[in-house]
Amino acid sequence: MKIAVLPGDGIGPEIVAQAVKVLKALNIGLEMEEAPIGGAGYEAAGDPLPEATLKLAKEADAVLLGAVGDWKYDTLPRDKRPERGLLRIRKELSLFANLRPALLYPELASASTLKPEVVSGLDIMIVRELTGDIYFGQPRGISTLENGEREGINTMRYNESEIKRIGRVAFEIAMKRNKKVCSVDKANVLETTELWRQVMIELSKEYPEVELSHMYVDNAAMQLVRAPKQFDVMVTGNIFGDILSDEASMLTGSIGMLPSASLDANNKGMYEPSHGSAPDIAGKDVANPLATILSAAMMLRYTFNDEANATRIEDAVKKALAQGYRTADIYTDGCNKVGCNAMGDAVVAAL
Ligand code: NAI
Ligand code: MG
Repeated sequence: MKIAVLPGDGIGPEIVAQAVKVLKALNIGLEMEEAPIGGAGYEAAGDPLPEATLKLAKEADAVLLGAVGDWKYDTLPRDKRPERGLLRIRKELSLFANLRPALLYPELASASTLKPEVVSGLDIMIVRELTGDIYFGQPRGISTLENGEREGINTMRYNESEIKRIGRVAFEIAMKRNKKVCSVDKANVLETTELWRQVMIELSKEYPEVELSHMYVDNAAMQLVRAPKQFDVMVTGNIFGDILSDEASMLTGSIGMLPSASLDANNKGMYEPSHGSAPDIAGKDVANPLATILSAAMMLRYTFNDEANATRIEDAVKKALAQGYRTADIYTDGCNKVGCNAMGDAVVAAL
């Protein structure tokens, strides 16, 4: 069980150190090795994804990543910028399934912009396809027409096997949860997603225990703020998933709480918080490490198939919150304000 640990830039090293501390406290023989990525990779080797880092990531069973980026790199050529390291590692590892949970912790209910009765108990998993769709389809580009007017074009496309493999991820996750999948499409107007719906229906025959439903994306966007608790697992394509996962995650309040997983066909995965490198608070020991710690829990669940220890970490986070520990981003009156390092310690103590 080998983990490539890539702290990256900004708050990356601080938050990743807390997740590593928690993983070590489990004492389950995980092997961890660190390497630079992003701006840190550029500083160390002139490349946002140094050869040695990529090699380590490929050899490992899973990657734990902090975040990349800093404004000071904005003037670098595009292929040297930190973000390029992230895009390249996702592509090199063929990470096609992006899992973004939207889970509301009862202690943080007041952080949501929605009424407590609408969001209390919320626990959604959004499964987004990450390597296809209108973001990658050809033809694409901006061209000038004969009459001199410019035209922009992008092409939505999915083939059957791409739809099937992301559908399978969603059904498998549903089997471990509440056996409900809602597939989101726009099958009434877009043929690509009409095929999406057909393939989901065909695939569902292999999962008779799972209840499959379908929803148009415009309605799904509406339902997510009207009655989000009707959803359990949602599966959708790249562009709809991009938008819906951001919408859903914000129902829970704070960006410092949101983990993510990106998986390949063999459940090898990269795990990272949904937020960025927060250069504004880097090095001050105030960042919230919980999104990264919860990403480590997802790693145990999805790559190492260790549900028991994944749950142990999640329960420890809940306990630390119940005990009143709060970093600045989730602080409310009467709680115990702690820094990044002390929050990591609180989770370890709760474990
Ligand atoms: P950001 O997510 O880094 O920060 C947005 C706001 O949230 C900031 O005020 C920040 O202080 C706060 N924040 C973020 N994470 C936090 C945490 N764990 N605890 C407490 N507060 C937290 O997004 P922003 O400011 O747009 O981008 C900053 C840099 O991060 C840029 O260079 C950007 O390119 C990069 N970035 C990297 C990502 C990644 O590595 N996956 C994703 C998004 C942005
Ligand atoms: Mg997005």
